[in-house]
Amino acid sequence: MERKVVMEAGQSADAGLDTPASSEESLRARLARGELPRHVAIIMDGNGRWAESRGLPRIAGHRAGIASAKEIVELCRELGVQVLTMFAFSSENWQRPTHEVRELMHLLEQYLKQELPTMIRHEIRFRAIGRTGILPASVRRWITRVETETAEYKQMTLNLALNYGGRAEIVDAVSALCTDLLAGRLSLPQLTEPMLAQYLSTGGLPDPDLIIRTSGEYRISNFLLWQAAYAELYFTKTLWPDFHRRELLLALIDYQRRERRFGRVQKPAGRSWL
Ligand code: IPE
Ligand code: IPE
Ligand code: MG
Repeated sequence: MERKVVMEAGQSADAGLDTPASSEESLRARLARGELPRHVAIIMDGNGRWAESRGLPRIAGHRAGIASAKEIVELCRELGVQVLTMFAFSSENWQRPTHEVRELMHLLEQYLKQELPTMIRHEIRFRAIGRTGILPASVRRWITRVETETAEYKQMTLNLALNYGGRAEIVDAVSALCTDLLAGRLSLPQLTEPMLAQYLSTGGLPDPDLIIRTSGEYRISNFLLWQAAYAELYFTKTLWPDFHRRELLLALIDYQRRERRFGRVQKPAGRSWL
C-alpha cells in the first residue's frame, strides 16, 4: 500500500483516534502496543500566529509556547523517550525585530531558571546545541549552570537548539575534524559517516526517528540537516501553543504506523535503526 509522507493528525488510516472521546489514557494504551521513537525532535512553530489570532502581542505566543514545551518535556520523560531535541531559536531568527529577540532571550533565561528543579527531579540531562557563544551573557550563564547540574543524568537527554542552524553545525564539525586531521590526531581513511557524526553537536546520540513540525509549515528550516536523513516527518496544522499531551500522543501513534525501510524492500527485522 502506498503511504503518504505527509500526514495531518486525524487524516490517517486510524483517524478515529483523534476524536474528543479518545482520552489521553486510551491513546497511551494504544501507544504502549508499539515501539517508541528513541529520539524525537520538534520544530516548535506558530507562536506568533497563535498570539496574533487573539489580538495579543507575539511575545504572549512565545510565553504560551513555553507552557507547551514544559508539558511535552514531561510527557516524553514519562513515556521513556531517550532523547528530545527542541528547536527554540534558529540562526536565522536574529533577523526578527530587536525587541522580539530581546524578549525571547529573556523568556529563555526564565525557562532555564524555572525548569532546573524539574530537570533535577526527573533526572533529565540538559544540553544546549547551536552556536551558543554569542547569546547574551546571562543566558550563557544559565545554560552552563543547567548543563553542569544535570550532566550526570541518564533518564533522558533534552537538547535545546539555540542559535542553531544545521549548515553552520556541519561547517563547525568539518572545521573541528580538519583541525584534528592537520594535527595528526586523525587520518583521512578514518573519515567515515559515523566519524563525521561524532563531531556534530548530537555526537554520541541516536539520530532523530521522528521530527515534528507544528503550524502547517512543510519545511525543515535548517534543522538537524545531517541527522534528519532517515527521520520520519510529521506535520500538523496545530500551532505550538495548542500542542499538548494529546497532540504528542497522536504524533507518536502515527509514527508507529510508518514502515521504516532504510532503502530495503521490507522493514528490517528487529529494531529498525540505521
Ligand atoms: C516559533 O514561533 C518560535 C520561534 C521561532 C522563536 P514563531 O514565532 O515562528 O511563530 P509564527 O511562525 O510567526 O507564527
Ligand atoms: C523555525 O521556525 C525555528 C524555530 C522553531 C525556532 P521559523 O518560524 O523561524 O521558520 P521559518 O522562518 O518559517 O522557516
Ligand atoms: Mg515561525
